Amino acid sequence: MTPVIELSELAKQYALPGGAGRLTAVDGVSLSVGAGETYALVGESGCGKSTLARMAAMLVARDSGEVRWSGQPVSGMSRRALRKVRDHTQIVFQDPAAALSPRLTVTQAIEEPLHIRGRTGSRSVAELLDAVGLDASMGARYPRELSGGQRQRVVVARALALDPKLLVLDEPVASLDVSVQAQVLNLLADLQEAHGLAYLLIAHDLAVVSSVADRIGVMYLGRIVEEGPAEEIVTRPRHPYTQMLIASVPAFAPGQRTVRRTVLGDPPSPTERLAGCAFASRCASATAVCREEAPAARAVGSVVVRCHHPSGADEAAERLG
Ligand SMILES: Nc1ncnc2c1ncn2[C@@H]1O[C@H](COP(=O)(O)OP(=O)(O)OP(=O)(O)O)[C@@H](O)[C@H]1O
Ligand code: SF4
Ligand SMILES: [Mg+2]
Repeated sequence: MTPVIELSELAKQYALPGGAGRLTAVDGVSLSVGAGETYALVGESGCGKSTLARMAAMLVARDSGEVRWSGQPVSGMSRRALRKVRDHTQIVFQDPAAALSPRLTVTQAIEEPLHIRGRTGSRSVAELLDAVGLDASMGARYPRELSGGQRQRVVVARALALDPKLLVLDEPVASLDVSVQAQVLNLLADLQEAHGLAYLLIAHDLAVVSSVADRIGVMYLGRIVEEGPAEEIVTRPRHPYTQMLIASVPAFAPGQRTVRRTVLGDPPSPTERLAGCAFASRCASATAVCREEAPAARAVGSVVVRCHHPSGADEAAERLG
């Protein structure tokens, strides 16, 4: 089936202040998300997740690469078609307080995007509130009268008002209490099932996404270094960076007496141009070739990995005979 959205070789640089060169935020990322599918993108702070999310939602212009919507390149689309794509793509940010105007009631906030477009939605505000698990009486309240979890539900209801096909969820539960995170993730899963929504879900934390993702892409310094079915990435990570991320999650390493809660070391600056693998400075498996040559993407079993020495490569080759 044609994916809802396909990103091909997207790239984005930002100019540094004072003409001090350029910073590479996203460096040739390709991925696709189908209807009813959740693609989770994980990686450390600053690796380019939000920049990629904004390019996917067409809020940030890409330097190069292409976005295809239902198989059609957006670069060739008419203004009208592009407006439709924009309506069908809604983005939910980390902080619901910042996303909602303090001067609008919940009802006004949900109706706002429809008013701006001069149209009515397929569902009433009461139906939308019900869909996100809020009582209709909440419609008269202001954001300050709601909890963080309730505010994020309002943001989701407002996104649903435009009948989207894709939700770009940029750390949607990171600002919420741990007890509320699971509730909001469950709500998102229910909505996805009911409406066949495609999700591009961004998170720092592999533990947050592992239970809801179909596919996981692990991003490091602007590139996806490993991608594949969620279960495979979590249970058999091939890239040393994915292995480091997994080892830092206590829930994934129950047998270990001391669990590394933090990921070791820092990534190089995104303003540097590196000759070899961007992970070499932190990698215990690095060899001479890693410092000289950037690893190309290669298939190992059902995952694609950018590493000269991925785990399990020999075993997978044997299986293929
Ligand atoms: N508008 C901007 N101007 C200049 N540099 C930017 C801009 N936005 C992001 N950057 C830089 O681009 C890189 C990628 O940032 P981005 O926000 O996409 O990362 P992220 O993975 O979402 O990080 P976080 O997990 O902290 O949200 C970072 O080095 C960041 O400082
Ligand atoms: S290419 Fe080399 S340095 Fe990079 S992750 Fe693989 S083993 Fe480590
Ligand atoms: Mg971000």
